[in-house]
Amino acid sequence: DQNQEELMQEYCKNLLSTLPKERWLGSSYLYKYNGFWLIHKVLPGLIACQNHFQAQDTDVLLITTPKSGTTWLKALMFALANRKIYPINQNHPLLKQNPHSLVPFMEFFFSPEKMNPDFSCPLGRLYSTHYPLTLLPESVLNSGCKIVYLCRNIKDTFVSYWHFSKKLGAEASLEEFFDMFCEGVSLSGPVWDHVLGYWRESLEKPEKVLFLKFEALQEKPSFHLKLLAEFMGCPISPEEETCGFVDEVLGLCSFDNLSNLEVNKSGTWRAARNEMFFRKGKVGDWKNYLTSEMEERIDHITAQKFFGSGLSL
Ligand code: A3P
Repeated sequence: DQNQEELMQEYCKNLLSTLPKERWLGSSYLYKYNGFWLIHKVLPGLIACQNHFQAQDTDVLLITTPKSGTTWLKALMFALANRKIYPINQNHPLLKQNPHSLVPFMEFFFSPEKMNPDFSCPLGRLYSTHYPLTLLPESVLNSGCKIVYLCRNIKDTFVSYWHFSKKLGAEASLEEFFDMFCEGVSLSGPVWDHVLGYWRESLEKPEKVLFLKFEALQEKPSFHLKLLAEFMGCPISPEEETCGFVDEVLGLCSFDNLSNLEVNKSGTWRAARNEMFFRKGKVGDWKNYLTSEMEERIDHITAQKFFGSGLSL
């Protein structure tokens, strides 16, 4: 009820005043909470989720580092999970709505009456988050809920994050943003710790966490779509394959197709314009923005952080 909501706001306000903070853009700050940098807007949602959110065995949760291809994977997973009710045709919801409107972020579940949001697809519930492993509600880890994790080359992630922040009004220069990013100060950063947490979880529990990379998805899209469908519990049948379903989904969710839709050119989602989620969608664009010193610095951090983990990005 309203009382509870007010108490939560008050609690978060007090909590925020005790946390280290860094400016992200305009009047928006990132706060360091349990080792990760979060925007204040997601803190009430996080605490409410940790306290109340009940994951279900049939849930599928997409977890990503910001700017690693969340929008793309949301589209692919939505298309796969809902294909019985929404066959791939001209009436498909992805042609009318941005993927972020179809697959909600757990960060924004919070409101007292909406703790167990009622959105469903034939498989169960499909939702997403940028929360690191250590901040997930316990029920996500303790239930049969499946996690699809996506990350991306760290340098491309940075370049995409910088452009996105600029479009949202960030005033800092590329160099200033880069320094902060390397210090771990970025949305849900440090990015390396975010990735490592889920990487280790996927090694320990491969049936629970499917670990994906943007580059691998681009390189072998059909293979990964089939893998994804199988993991989500809705494998692509031989008949579907013969009928060209794989190419249909990949075509529907392709950068060119989604970015040229009216809804994604002119629509909005929360504080963002939909077009902000589509820039180039390419691998290796960092080469156009980072100096060789920057490249070395970030590669060095990555090598140090991932040392001995078996992970490379
Ligand atoms: P670039 O900025 O490098 O172009 P997120 O969805 O996690 O916010 O990530 C955004 C990044 O994914 C952007 O990268 C964006 O262009 C890219 N992207 C969005 N839709 C895509 C798609 N359908 N296929 C491939 N990349 C896509």
